[in-house]
Amino acid sequence: MSTSTASTASTTSTASTASTTVGIHDLSFATTEFVLPHTALAEYNGTEIGKYHVGIGQQSMSVPAADEDIVTLGAAAAAPIVARHGADGIRTLVFATESSIDQAKAAGVYVHSLLGLPSATRVVELKQACYGATAALQFAIGLIHRDPSQKVLVVASDVSKYELDSPGEATQGAAAVAMLVSADPALVRIEDPSGLFTADVMDFWRPNYRDAALVDGQESIGAYLQAVQGTWKDYSEQGGRPLEAFSAFCYHQPFTKMAYKAHRHLLNSAGHDTDETAVKQALGLTTAYNAVIGNSYTASVYLGLAALLDQAEDLTGQPVGFLSYGSGSVAEFFAGTVVPGYREHLRTAEHRTAIERRQAIGYDRYRALHERTLPTDGSDHATPAETTGPFRLAGISGHKRLYEKR
Ligand code: CAA
Repeated sequence: MSTSTASTASTTSTASTASTTVGIHDLSFATTEFVLPHTALAEYNGTEIGKYHVGIGQQSMSVPAADEDIVTLGAAAAAPIVARHGADGIRTLVFATESSIDQAKAAGVYVHSLLGLPSATRVVELKQACYGATAALQFAIGLIHRDPSQKVLVVASDVSKYELDSPGEATQGAAAVAMLVSADPALVRIEDPSGLFTADVMDFWRPNYRDAALVDGQESIGAYLQAVQGTWKDYSEQGGRPLEAFSAFCYHQPFTKMAYKAHRHLLNSAGHDTDETAVKQALGLTTAYNAVIGNSYTASVYLGLAALLDQAEDLTGQPVGFLSYGSGSVAEFFAGTVVPGYREHLRTAEHRTAIERRQAIGYDRYRALHERTLPTDGSDHATPAETTGPFRLAGISGHKRLYEKR
């Protein structure tokens, strides 16, 4: 670039300076109409309930109604954010998912329509298993550094589905987290550097022709632990904070006990003691929502953040560590600092309502919902009206999903 061009650019550009802080300005989540308690699953398959409650650390799993999917959940999570802040400044919507409903069209385009966002918006879908939402967050941060007047709506939405009667079945769940990412955020400032890790492993995957994921359970746990070690190594080499600087850690939680396994592994591999009281203190509050919702795949690490912010006494100025893992595998470790005044912007009551409003169902109803599929021959099909949420999947016609706003 010539000197004269460079100087023109520097006087006209809206690009941020190095001091611009960017991060999560608002966070809201939604989950499903129904919930299956693990006691019902255990009674059906004869499992000792301690394996679910203690062994994997799960109490119940969110189950989508026939007229719910990643779009209705994503729109329900994002609607309160648009209601509070308006759409001004939102020029990008990034939808992260690994339970995509279309190979071409981004699910975020339906959400954009249901929320009535302006046409001058960029909408895209991102995928890398449960890591997708973190890729979306980093994408958003990059865009905002380029123009700090813009905001990015990140929507992470997933329905986790394994084969009936498989070991993975007890780790299903469903939820969506929406985050408004902006300059000068009200909740959490996201910091540089990030620790990165990628390895080509077949621990969990879902070929295009399958509805339920394939998984090698023990391999997946080992792959996750390897990624924890790899991201931390890179984070340290990039000049990140020391381990003892963090007051809490939000891990991806396929089941809540995995966060404990991961944190002990991190402490061990970094040469620290794995004192159980300290481990519980670092993780305990982050597991409250995941333990009753189940695996929400790419939303899971941010449900951990919601649970932490909603329950902790005061985290002002505290650094929180994030470990985002997506099978296959890609992982990232990064830090965020909680912003003064954050508690005035939380949605704790709405989050509790989202969990408590779910209707408990028995094993037979859950099984019937699990086995349900939409027609694939282009015929017209109306879905039963089951959800009481703000958006529903009304049916499918000519291979097109039809959504309704209540
Ligand atoms: N009381 C207390 N604990 C008990 C118990 C009882 N009665 N019975 C068993 N347990 C314990 C076991 O000792 C074990 O604990 P440890 O792992 O600490 O040893 C735990 O309960 C689970 O028991 P098993 O290992 O025997 O369980 P399993 O083989 O049936 O399945 C699983 C466990 C592999 C996690 C399975 O649920 C699965 O495949 N899940 C899906 C894959 C997954 O979630 N992988 C996580 C990493 S990959 C990832 O994070 C990405 C993603 O989202 C998928």
